[in-house]
Amino acid sequence: MKYTRTTSTALTIATICIAGIVTTLPAQTQVAQPDPAAESVAQTLPLPTTQIDPQSCVTADCHANVKRHSVLHGPVNVNACDACHTLTDAKTHTYIPAREQADTCTFCHVIETGPAQTLHEPLVTRDCTGCHDPHGGFDRNSLKKPSMSELCASCHQDVIGNKKHVHGPVAAGACGMCHQPHASQNPKLLIETGRELCVGCHMEMDQQLAEVDFVHEPAKDDCLSCHNAHATDFPMLVKQEPGLLCTNACHEDIKQAVNDAKYKHSAVTQDRGCVNCHTPHGGDLAKLMKDRPIDLCMTCHDQSVTADDGRLIASVSEVTNPNLIKHGPVAEGSCGGCHNVHGSEFAKLLIDEYPATFYQPFDLESYRLCFECHDKQLVLTPDAKGLTGFRNGDTNMHFLHVNKDPRGRSCRACHSVHASTIALHLRETVPYGKWELPINFQQTDTGGTCSPGCHKPKSYDRDNPVDYKPAQ
Ligand code: HEC
Ligand code: HEC
Ligand code: HEC
Ligand code: HEC
Ligand code: HEC
Ligand code: HEC
Ligand code: HEC
Ligand code: HEC
Ligand code: HEC
Ligand code: HEC
Ligand code: HEC
Ligand code: HEC
Repeated sequence: MKYTRTTSTALTIATICIAGIVTTLPAQTQVAQPDPAAESVAQTLPLPTTQIDPQSCVTADCHANVKRHSVLHGPVNVNACDACHTLTDAKTHTYIPAREQADTCTFCHVIETGPAQTLHEPLVTRDCTGCHDPHGGFDRNSLKKPSMSELCASCHQDVIGNKKHVHGPVAAGACGMCHQPHASQNPKLLIETGRELCVGCHMEMDQQLAEVDFVHEPAKDDCLSCHNAHATDFPMLVKQEPGLLCTNACHEDIKQAVNDAKYKHSAVTQDRGCVNCHTPHGGDLAKLMKDRPIDLCMTCHDQSVTADDGRLIASVSEVTNPNLIKHGPVAEGSCGGCHNVHGSEFAKLLIDEYPATFYQPFDLESYRLCFECHDKQLVLTPDAKGLTGFRNGDTNMHFLHVNKDPRGRSCRACHSVHASTIALHLRETVPYGKWELPINFQQTDTGGTCSPGCHKPKSYDRDNPVDYKPAQ
């Protein structure tokens, strides 16, 4: 009885059952090796010199190893040894392979590889028995090793190596969750490409990203731009040190800002780097903020912090104090309007110039921070019409105080920047050397009065200007 080539993976068992009649043992001249116990017995016995009924090939004394597997390969199970082994000389008990290489298997199995795909090299070299034991295995796949990972490791370098962090499925040896053993439509024998490979398991993340307002561009297509699939030395399987992950491949500009900045911010480089403040995947906040900036900042700045150079940086707990009146951007929970938190050319990580001193010879440039958002005419025009509430009649009191040389008053003389007890961000006191100089501002419907440490009490009134004609 001869086998005919089948077109499906599994052959009809019937064929095998009917076969196995004129069959006998394998291997050229010798009884072969694998199982040491069986081998030692077999080698002491004389070889049969007549044709053996295939039913008798495997006994306690002969070829016991062929059936030592937990699961026997179909034809072995039915003693169809002659499906693969052909007797050429009964006297010398000589068998030759019925077919060569993969034909041994493809005679009965068709391996569907489809078009345009990656063929695993052992399939190219037609080495089915590199992975499969022709007689049986640990499960019905007749694999030579008890686990997938051991099987792969028999030819491949360990994909984990000495790496500290190992991906769950890799640690569990589930290589087959991502790779096809034979062939695939995708590179590297992967079962899927891009993010699809990952979100099949990371479904919560997929759902989460489907719902958020902002998804990070690389997380839309390929998770592997940031992660390794097997193992890495860094937590969360990221490819590089957290501090370098974002800047090495993509955010060159920020890297430069961080490295070249005259004033640096350790929050950006320490610990988890960029992900101290940003989410790597996506979220509901613009600029991929992990939380409202104000809440992120206040994890550190709700108390004083010490800079690397030893300076003490005061707490800015005023920005969250519910009893204070907040400056516009602060009220919205934003700090980025004034601070470049990645690093800056300007002290206090400001985005632009702002005087550090009480007196400041007037130069518009030194107030660029405030005039990013406010109208610079505030300090350029003596005539205050429609420009500012800080006017006496039409006299612009901002111009009067600020636009002077050398003793112009900087904004800080009267305003606080983050929050204040008084409307219009006026200060109650202002540091003047060792003195907290009081301002004593009293607002009226049409103006106000100050009795500061600077001069005797003075008032301004928008409707009925106070007369400050220089005394003759
Ligand atoms: C599906 C094909 C196939 C069938 C069926 C098969 N063999 Fe084999 N057998 C092989 C191949 C291929 C080898 C060579 C193994 C290798 O190179 O790894 C082999 C090797 C052997 C060897 C020598 C190595 C060893 O494992 O001891 C013996 C003995 C053997 N077969 C006995 C049998 C007997 C007995 C049966 C029937 C019960 C049988 N074979 C059924 C394919 C088959
Ligand atoms: C004589 C026909 C025949 C040959 C030759 C043959 N097989 Fe099989 N194989 C079968 C049969 C029959 C089954 C059992 C199918 C079933 O249970 O549905 C089977 C099952 C398998 C299975 C289990 C998976 C499945 O679909 O059930 C694997 C793996 C396998 N064979 C691999 C091989 C390899 C590798 C070779 C070559 C070394 C080979 N076979 C040669 C007939 C053959
Ligand atoms: C690199 C190792 C490897 C090689 C080489 C290999 N296989 Fe497999 N094969 C596997 C693994 C692993 C599975 C189990 C896949 C699973 O569980 O999804 C498998 C499953 C099978 C199955 C059963 C499932 C199916 O896909 O139908 C058959 C039949 C089979 N292989 C035949 C072959 C044949 C024939 C060859 C040679 C042309 C071959 N294999 C080469 C690893 C290999
Ligand atoms: C019998 C030896 C052998 C076994 C077992 C084996 N491989 Fe391979 N594999 C090769 C060879 C040879 C190549 C080609 C050379 C290379 O890329 O290393 C290869 C290539 C690959 C590639 C790269 C494919 C490409 O197109 O770049 C992947 C991925 C792979 N193997 C995964 C696996 C997995 C997963 C397993 C376990 C299921 C496995 N291999 C088991 C021999 C093997
Ligand atoms: C979570 C999915 C996943 C799992 C699980 C997985 N791999 Fe991979 N593997 C990949 C991806 C993605 C690539 C291609 C990208 C790369 O090289 O990192 C790859 C590449 C490979 C390569 C080819 C490397 C090269 O440079 O060509 C081999 C070999 C390999 N894997 C073996 C394994 C083995 C062995 C296991 C099980 C221990 C395994 N993989 C488990 C996803 C996975
Ligand atoms: C077969 C399912 C599966 C696939 C596919 C898969 N993962 Fe995972 N992944 C897991 C499991 C399980 C864990 C461990 C979860 C845990 O410990 O809570 C994990 C954990 C992770 C972690 C966190 C690691 C840590 O240290 O906590 C990252 C990052 C990750 N996977 C990324 C990926 C990426 C990227 C891909 C696609 C290349 C991917 N995963 C594909 C199952 C999978
Ligand atoms: C831009 C880089 C980047 C991309 C792209 C990316 N990740 Fe991540 N992923 C990270 C970083 C960084 C962390 C660590 C976050 C942390 O420490 O808070 C992380 C953490 C994780 C974690 C563990 C913690 C958690 O949030 O659950 C999983 C799982 C994960 N990523 C899966 C994925 C998957 C799946 C994709 C593709 C859809 C992906 N990542 C794309 C950078 C990235
Ligand atoms: C201390 C918190 C913090 C850290 C750490 C941080 N950022 Fe930012 N990032 C911000 C804030 C605040 C914004 C501005 C948000 C806004 O305008 O509302 C921002 C904005 C951005 C933007 C948007 C473009 C822009 O300039 O407005 C990018 C890109 C960016 N950050 C990248 C990074 C990278 C890369 C790192 C790591 C080197 C990093 N960030 C570290 C807080 C941080
Ligand atoms: C992880 C803690 C941490 C977080 C979060 C943090 N900072 Fe800082 N910040 C510091 C430390 C420490 C310093 C002292 C300077 C240094 O060594 O980096 C500092 C300094 C500053 C300075 C003063 C710089 C100087 O030289 O006087 C400003 C302004 C500042 N941070 C603003 C912010 C803003 C705005 C945020 C939120 C977007 C923020 N910080 C988030 C730790 C943090
Ligand atoms: C309108 C502009 C502006 C906004 C918005 C702003 N700041 Fe500031 N911030 C400043 C200025 C100006 C200084 C310098 C104050 C000084 O020199 O007296 C400063 C100083 C600081 C300092 C250093 C304090 C010190 O004494 O060294 C920290 C920390 C700080 N800001 C945090 C924040 C946080 C957190 C937010 C967001 C909630 C924020 N800032 C919003 C303008 C602003
Ligand atoms: C990022 C933009 C921005 C910057 C920079 C900025 N401000 Fe403001 N400021 C605002 C917003 C928005 C308001 C609220 C306007 C409103 O409510 O009509 C405001 C309001 C004010 C008010 C009170 C106005 C009122 O009607 O209550 C004063 C005073 C003030 N800012 C002073 C300053 C000073 C001084 C600076 C420079 C240190 C500065 N601002 C920098 C955006 C900014
Ligand atoms: C001498 C004290 C003083 C100085 C210095 C000062 N301001 Fe004012 N500012 C005030 C007073 C008082 C008001 C409230 C006017 C009122 O009654 O509405 C005010 C109001 C404002 C307002 C609210 C809108 C308006 O004009 O009425 C802004 C904005 C403002 N100042 C910005 C600044 C900026 C920017 C600087 C620095 C370039 C500065 N101020 C310097 C006292 C001062």
